[in-house]
Amino acid sequence: MPRTATDDITQGLRQRPARISPKYFYDQHGSRLFEAITELPEYYPTRTENALMQRHAADIARAVGTGRTLIELGAGNCQKARALCRLVQPACFVGVDISADYLSEAVAGLQNDFPGLDARALGGDMTQGVELPPDIPRTGRLVFYPGSSIGNFDPPHALELLAHMRDMVDDDGGLLIGIDLPKEVAVLEAAYDDAAGVTAEFNRNVLRHVNRLIGSDFDLAQWQHRAFFNHEASRIEMHLEAIADADVRWPGGGRTFVQGERIHTENSYKYPLPVFTDMLERAGFKEAQAWTDERGWFAVVHARP
Ligand code: AVI
Repeated sequence: MPRTATDDITQGLRQRPARISPKYFYDQHGSRLFEAITELPEYYPTRTENALMQRHAADIARAVGTGRTLIELGAGNCQKARALCRLVQPACFVGVDISADYLSEAVAGLQNDFPGLDARALGGDMTQGVELPPDIPRTGRLVFYPGSSIGNFDPPHALELLAHMRDMVDDDGGLLIGIDLPKEVAVLEAAYDDAAGVTAEFNRNVLRHVNRLIGSDFDLAQWQHRAFFNHEASRIEMHLEAIADADVRWPGGGRTFVQGERIHTENSYKYPLPVFTDMLERAGFKEAQAWTDERGWFAVVHARP
């Protein structure tokens, strides 16, 4: 297991095919680009999930209960937390995100909107497990993981993370999670390769971030965005493809990529609902209750330990 970001990235760049973890998308600029993606006409997940949360607000509030300690994983701009706070009036909120500066700003905004709320920002890489401050109440916790971000982990790792979420809550706790469901390939591929090129820019920006983190000299203009649905694995894959031969150097190493060679940057799994509820059960959750839209594109699921 690599210990530092530099080890993690250089190890991934040496692999064949090369890989960069999607967690490196989210520097400040990447977080803002992701925010722009969520507003694109082609990117249906955010708006479908928001509509589901609104339409089923009363049922969701009933399932979740009020006065809880709300823990949002990958809280980002806290927009979803804001809507949920209105709905279930938690006593305490903990936002966890890898982009710590971006998160702090967002949590400050949330605190401003809900002066009675004990709101905290926790910067950190949740893929390594979340260590909550000891004064966060153990009882009545609700883990909130919207946006289908669980789809960005390979299934065994997703199962591990769900089990970790189970461990974060006592028996009176709960999990509220968003899941993107399989659908027509054209809809999926357009969502990850939009006409305005925002997703392409988001994908290429990972190289800018990597350059800063490891001192490499990736030239963004030499790389093009590729996104396609892998049927066998039921996932969207994103890659960066070398437009021409590219020589990349970093302190202590380097690699030549030939024209057409790719760096795999992201998977986004699309789980059929029964497959996902089965995963939840294996992770120690039960009584899954799901709300889906009429097209069957997305699901919001609540489950108890
Ligand atoms: C954060 N995550 C759920 C997004 C997704 O849809 O997999 C990341 C993303 N990548 C490209 N567009 C959006």
